[in-house]
Amino acid sequence: MYKILACFLVCCIGYALANDLMTYHVVTISLLTPGQGMSVLIDGTHYPLQQSSTVPMLYTGSAPKSQIGYQYTITKGGNPMETEIFERSAEYLSEEQSFNDVYGQSWRKLDDMKPLPQLYAFDRERYSPLGGMSDPAASNLYEDGTVATIHISASPEQVLAMHQNKMDKKINLLADFTYINYNSIQEFKNVSFKVSGHSSRQWSKIPYKIKIPRKAYPDGLYRRWHLKLRSESTDPTMVREKLYNDVLKSTGVIAARGGYVSCTKKVTRLYINDKPIGLFLTVDDPASSTFIRETMYGGDRKLHIGAIIKADAAEGSTTANLNYLGQDPDLYESETYEIKKESPKGHPSAVSDLIKFTKFIREYNASSVPDDARAVKIWEEHLDITSYIRQLAVEWITGNWDAHQYAGNNYIIHRDTVKNRYVVLPVDFDYTFGNGVEADQTRFLTGKPLEMSEGQPVNSYLWDKVRSTPYLLNMYYETIKDINAQLMTPDILNAHVDSIVNLIESSIVWEQSLVTQTTGLKSAKSIADFKSAFVAGSKNKIDLLIGLKEWIKIKHSSILQL
Ligand SMILES: *[C@@H]1O[C@H](CO)[C@@H](O)[C@H](O)[C@H]1NC(C)=O
Ligand SMILES: *[C@@H]1O[C@H](CO)[C@@H](O)[C@H](O)[C@H]1NC(C)=O
Repeated sequence: MYKILACFLVCCIGYALANDLMTYHVVTISLLTPGQGMSVLIDGTHYPLQQSSTVPMLYTGSAPKSQIGYQYTITKGGNPMETEIFERSAEYLSEEQSFNDVYGQSWRKLDDMKPLPQLYAFDRERYSPLGGMSDPAASNLYEDGTVATIHISASPEQVLAMHQNKMDKKINLLADFTYINYNSIQEFKNVSFKVSGHSSRQWSKIPYKIKIPRKAYPDGLYRRWHLKLRSESTDPTMVREKLYNDVLKSTGVIAARGGYVSCTKKVTRLYINDKPIGLFLTVDDPASSTFIRETMYGGDRKLHIGAIIKADAAEGSTTANLNYLGQDPDLYESETYEIKKESPKGHPSAVSDLIKFTKFIREYNASSVPDDARAVKIWEEHLDITSYIRQLAVEWITGNWDAHQYAGNNYIIHRDTVKNRYVVLPVDFDYTFGNGVEADQTRFLTGKPLEMSEGQPVNSYLWDKVRSTPYLLNMYYETIKDINAQLMTPDILNAHVDSIVNLIESSIVWEQSLVTQTTGLKSAKSIADFKSAFVAGSKNKIDLLIGLKEWIKIKHSSILQL
């Protein structure tokens, strides 16, 4: 009797072990049709998964822990219809759950991303534990080698109205937002969701902005609350902006990070109300105080941070050229210098500080300034000149024309109240590496650095004055040569570009199968268009002359001749 009971217990335990249940999670990037479902296939048996009630493309369910491998299956009426052609190794299963797998995609995180080397350190004085080499703008949001999935849920009527009136910058909806990465599912209620950008709204695939309420979500999404979803419609490769993010990180510049690389932007697959929308690059919004606080002040909530001004050339009557216009604050148009955050109490207002700065620029006289390192000291009292010169060097090497020196556009000025000076943060990098401005491209590609703004009105009085001191101009040249020799070589950049292509290629194919949300201009239509945009410019397309890799190669050798 005793023996029989003992055996019974042992058998029960054996049975329970073999049937140890765990949770499987899979995301379908192409939504299933009614009647279809999802199951997980383990050792020849299908176990049905349940669709999430809040995130329709997510399926989860309990099933035994696979010992060797498992596959996901699309079912119809409960019967298997299509099974993944590869097996997922059980090696990556924990006792409790699978990663958030993506149906039909064998990897969850690509390891071989060929990151760019870190050429320059960040600010050595603050928040830089590793001798300034670790990125203060790093976030798990930008983990290398991953493509996350985003779901936005809002009133269908409101979304339709927003898309039909996409040129209206005031429309802003309340939405629920879900973010799914391979190892995390995060849900946010009542985020604000809107179309963003200026001219990019003309495209059929438009960019968006998301704002997560900070009170309700004190940790945000990996400590970010303001996100831009960049559509990259002007760039058929969808790689240029991400590459620029990564170059800024490598050159020690605090700026938006994005996409698939640690400390860069993340590319996300976006769904709105259960319709797949496409592939986007998630990037930071440096015009937000949450980003500035996180990256420049270590997230310190008690600190009263200084003014944030968005410098823009598209809306006002002039470009954001930092020209001194006199003491009257009204002369500094709020469209050109949009105050995103006022100065804290007890400090001069944002615009009065700006006037002081433009006056300093106007009065700067190179012939009365020593032509040596003392010039750097003089500027440092007003501006983070090191970061500024690096930014301008990168503008030149990438031909970034929709930016500070050529266009007086797309940058943020932040008043650092700790150091009592300004810092410039660049934004929006799709018009780079040979994208756009047909006529001037050749000059950008093979000309000399100071020819960038030739024939243009002065769009940066700041840059005009900085470069009037030969010592500073030489710093700029040396920075260009240094970056060109050690970072922006065809070998280094192309390896990185290829790893990004490997990451997003299947998403590009997927996106091309989708219907766009709005009417407007369309970019590349086929995978052949996508691939050829790296090799050469498509001459008949709007605003595009030079292939991405073509730019990298010719520009590199042109700078070697300097
Ligand atoms: C979201 O907003 C609605 C309407 O204002 C409110 O009733 C609800 O409590 C909010 N939910 C959360 C989680 O903040
Ligand atoms: C700049 O400084 C030089 C030398 O001090 C002086 O001769 C010149 O007049 C100044 N230029 C202006 C525009 O003030």
